[in-house]
Amino acid sequence: MKIIAYGIRADEKPFLDKWSEENSDVEVISTGKLLDETTVDQAKGADGVVTYQQKPYTADVLDKLGRFGIKYLSLRNVGFDNVDVDAAKRNNIRVTNVPAYSPQAIAEFTVTQLMRLLRRTNTFDRKMANGDLRWAPDIADELNQMTVGVYATGRIGRAAIQIYKGFGAKVIAYDIYHNPELEKEGIYVDTPAELYAKADVISLHAPATKENEHMLDDAAFAQMKTGIYILNPARGILIDTDALIRALDSGKVAGAAIDTYEDEVGIFNSDFGSFDKIPDERLKNLLKRENVLVSPHIAFYTKRAVHNMVCYAMDANKSLIKTGKSDKLVDL
Ligand code: COI
Repeated sequence: MKIIAYGIRADEKPFLDKWSEENSDVEVISTGKLLDETTVDQAKGADGVVTYQQKPYTADVLDKLGRFGIKYLSLRNVGFDNVDVDAAKRNNIRVTNVPAYSPQAIAEFTVTQLMRLLRRTNTFDRKMANGDLRWAPDIADELNQMTVGVYATGRIGRAAIQIYKGFGAKVIAYDIYHNPELEKEGIYVDTPAELYAKADVISLHAPATKENEHMLDDAAFAQMKTGIYILNPARGILIDTDALIRALDSGKVAGAAIDTYEDEVGIFNSDFGSFDKIPDERLKNLLKRENVLVSPHIAFYTKRAVHNMVCYAMDANKSLIKTGKSDKLVDL
């Protein structure tokens, strides 16, 4: 049995090598290159493909995998919004993801960024670097005094809720699916509008779907309290960036922590050598602001998460090849 793993980074390689040692019945080929039209030929002869990337898995690539007789594509991450669903279906390609490599990693990072915003650490770091050690006017807010509105209560949303509660915040949530435990606690509100109107912080944990695209737009920001904090460790496409910039300019939004950005593909996890060379003016606009924390999609990036992403995806691919079954199949 042969599996090819694409886009393997240096931090993933030791985990892949260990998995390979422990699974000597599988021939593992790996490449640092991403799976696309220029690299798909390397998959010829393999029984399964394991990948992680944010750029699209296009119809061309999936058609080619289909022609090579490859039926199993295992993603090392959660989101599968970049898979061409029609092409996967027409080639009978079954896709697995890793739904829970570490929801806590993302939740911890989200709350870390919120605390940085509330305690104005970015402002104080910049002031201190310039020799300004004064307190005023950068007085902080306290999370224990605030209401956090969690949008979507899947694994990551629920992990974030636990931490928010630990800080003593009041938590309300919106989701079309209600988690029974949270339902008992009565934390759900009925509409996104209610969440926006009641919360001091909006913590986004929804997947990228057609319905969620630009869910935070001018109209949504208008429904929020003035001075709202926005956290997006989920998917860039959830926020209309132009609307966010307008809401920051008007003071409607007091601060935002953006770990995902709608035009991040090809930009995040790249080194441009200097700030000026970052090829995205809107992103630079956000990066220049003291009350906006932009991070390059790193909420997931912990040792435990990366280990689990590699090993769970390899396990899922092997299981599909051997038995045609996996508990990580996604419903395309
Ligand atoms: C996901 O798992 O879907 C993520 O967003 C993390 C990814 C950048 C590896």
